[in-house]
Amino acid sequence: MALLIDSRDLAGLISIEDAVAAVRQGFTDQGNTPSYSALRVRMQHEDRRLTVHPGGCPSLKIAGMFIHAERFTFEGNAQQYNGAGRRVYVAYDSETAEHKAIIVGSLPLFAFDSFEESFATETPITSAVGTDMLARPDCKILALYGTGLQARRHLIAMCAIRPIEEVRVYSRSAENRADFVAFMQGQVDIPVRAVDDPQEAAAGADLICMATNTNIPALFGDWLEPGQHITSIVNSNKGVKEQAKLAHARRELDDEVIRRSDIILVNVREQSIVDEHGDLFEPIEAGITSWDRIIEMGDILTGRAEGRTSPDQITLFKQNSDQGVGYMALAGLVCDIAERNKIGIEI
Ligand SMILES: NC(=O)c1ccc[n+]([C@@H]2O[C@H](COP(=O)([O-])OP(=O)(O)OC[C@H]3O[C@@H](n4cnc5c(N)ncnc54)[C@H](OP(=O)(O)O)[C@@H]3O)[C@@H](O)[C@H]2O)c1
Repeated sequence: MALLIDSRDLAGLISIEDAVAAVRQGFTDQGNTPSYSALRVRMQHEDRRLTVHPGGCPSLKIAGMFIHAERFTFEGNAQQYNGAGRRVYVAYDSETAEHKAIIVGSLPLFAFDSFEESFATETPITSAVGTDMLARPDCKILALYGTGLQARRHLIAMCAIRPIEEVRVYSRSAENRADFVAFMQGQVDIPVRAVDDPQEAAAGADLICMATNTNIPALFGDWLEPGQHITSIVNSNKGVKEQAKLAHARRELDDEVIRRSDIILVNVREQSIVDEHGDLFEPIEAGITSWDRIIEMGDILTGRAEGRTSPDQITLFKQNSDQGVGYMALAGLVCDIAERNKIGIEI
């Protein structure tokens, strides 16, 4: 018997801490058993995109996929979704091969998201897992770039893993910045302050979190200081670039950020290679760094690579796509919660 679960019924039942622990375990499995996971696959026709994230976590006895479809525009150097259907998890018991669950909708991890906004809620959890591997334990000042849905969620996720005492936020529009501060100040007990100069946001910050929808660099390596950690989530636009015949791949970081980063971590290296992920692919093509210097979450989680070794290092987590292993680890958590709380319909 499998469970059909509407993610709305899980509201208030999944803590950020439990979600972070689950995704961390998912990427540990990915590091231990890479043959049981595959890269995110994207199919694109004009502005229609279909994405599938397959993978399995033997330690959690779960395997399956996460799937979603979008329409979007790509104008004014920014990517905007025009339509996004509800996302769907399909999970199997990896040991018995029995169908375990279908979960409809991204998980309601953030109380402030409306139903219409509830997609890609899992992304800040993956960001928190990777950031936790590299950022100094004593990070107190968070500089946040972007004032959209991911910026809101990343603020909460970063505060869950580090003792943040002050948040500075920058986006291009003063109105968006003011709205963001007014909204988020009601969600957290620490000061959230808008800054109107992007460089000022980074100066003296411990943790820099990029949650923009830009296609051109918004963070510059010249601004960076020893000891800082950067987490950046702008992803590849390979399909759009091909369909729209764009001259340049999407970037959020300039080359100097890559040059100055002592450690560069990604979710899965091969994903950036296959996707020709601009923030890494272009600097590597230019000889600024090389793929063998880029480490993966699974490398650190299984002890094959070290994370930060000195408080002065500049570290970068290029969050280069949520993976099936993370989604399936979350699906396992949801199944346990659903069973305990008698949520879902047996099918
Ligand atoms: N890595 C992953 O797995 C993953 C998963 C999901 C989403 N994402 C990415 O996450 C990003 C954010 O998503 P979202 O839903 O939060 O988008 P959103 O709601 O459209 O917000 C984007 C924000 O970026 C700001 N922005 C644009 N250019 C900027 C710049 N140069 N400097 C500072 N801020 C700038 C915009 O504000 P202003 O207009 O005021 O500047 C806006 O607040 C998207 O790029 C999306 O592709 C990544």
